[in-house]
Amino acid sequence: MPSVTDRYDPLATETLRNPYSVLAELRAREPVFWHAGMGSWVLTRYADCVRVLRDHETFARDPRRTGGTVPEPSLSVQTLDPPQQNAVRSSFMTALRAQDLTGIEGRARHLVGERLDQLAGAGPFDAVSEIAVPLSVAVVADLLGVEPPPYGEFAAVSDAIMRSMDGGLDPALVEPGRIARGQLSELVDSWFAASSRPGLLARVRQATVADSDALARSYVKNTARVMFQGGYSTMAAAVGNAVHTLLTHPGTLERMRDRALLATGVDELVRFDGPVQGTTRTTPVGSSWINQIETWFGLLTRQSIRRSTFASVNVLIKQIRDYIDSWNSEAKPFTWTATAEEILAKVRLVQTNIKKLVANNSK
Ligand code: HEM
Repeated sequence: MPSVTDRYDPLATETLRNPYSVLAELRAREPVFWHAGMGSWVLTRYADCVRVLRDHETFARDPRRTGGTVPEPSLSVQTLDPPQQNAVRSSFMTALRAQDLTGIEGRARHLVGERLDQLAGAGPFDAVSEIAVPLSVAVVADLLGVEPPPYGEFAAVSDAIMRSMDGGLDPALVEPGRIARGQLSELVDSWFAASSRPGLLARVRQATVADSDALARSYVKNTARVMFQGGYSTMAAAVGNAVHTLLTHPGTLERMRDRALLATGVDELVRFDGPVQGTTRTTPVGSSWINQIETWFGLLTRQSIRRSTFASVNVLIKQIRDYIDSWNSEAKPFTWTATAEEILAKVRLVQTNIKKLVANNSK
């Protein structure tokens, strides 16, 4: 049977239906592994993920920190790391806190009540298209203070954007995502051109000083798009997943009828089958984290493998596993001791030697 890392295909039908059993197996057996399809390391343990997400210096969101580029429509809170991210993030967070969230909740309850009344007694219905999608479009439009777009069309645009996030695994998803992002940008442009209705967007626009540069305006506009689309897609998926969980766990449904359990119960439903399965970071070139891994493999080679003979691959594997076990029994973190000057002096020495070599060869 192929190893769990070979079996892990995030887009396979069975993974999409239930990713949790393979994730549990990965956490237990290979919590950190290289996924060739994604061209990326995959981490599945909570503590490891928290460590990566909190270490903004070593792990970047901004592709420019690893020599990449960001096209103008993608410049948003999602492509910045702290501290550069702080200004745009806090402008949206301040505006979010200033909204009448109780009023928004009341209107959402009313809308769901109305739709359930219309659907009641009319036979089976699709909870995602009839409830989750219209509810999520309405709530996020109410929050931002914009006219809700026709929700069927918007759902298709949002789906194409969400799917394109798996473009690394399936390149065919990239182009429809790019087109959809353009369509959504046009919609956001129209909100910015229209006179401001009260809401989060109006507040952010007030806070963005009129004479701010074009770049700052791009960040605000694109973050508004990310918020609308990210808010809608997670909400619609979370409602769909919650309905599915309740219908497949009738005991939980009964317990949720107790109003005292409702708030924590909703949090638990989102945690139990969340709408987001992962997030990504890139590692800035030359990161000390990568150097430490290289250092470790150097130690393994020098101390355990080089100059040894192995009767079979299995013997070699056992030797490596034994080394890992003994290393882990008293592992200590590497301490970075080289100064920038020492490293640069070595780089200069290598450069001089290479130049000499090239000069000698061309004689
Ligand atoms: C259950 C619901 C939700 C889940 C599970 C969720 C999950 C996530 C995740 C995993 C990220 C990426 C974080 C990172 O890589 O550091 C993210 C970012 C983001 N989400 Fe959500 N989200 C939810 C609901 C929402 C809603 C309702 C909104 C807006 C109304 C929203 C707006 C955003 C924005 C603007 C970002 C990018 C900014 C940032 O990461 O700081 N999300 N979300």
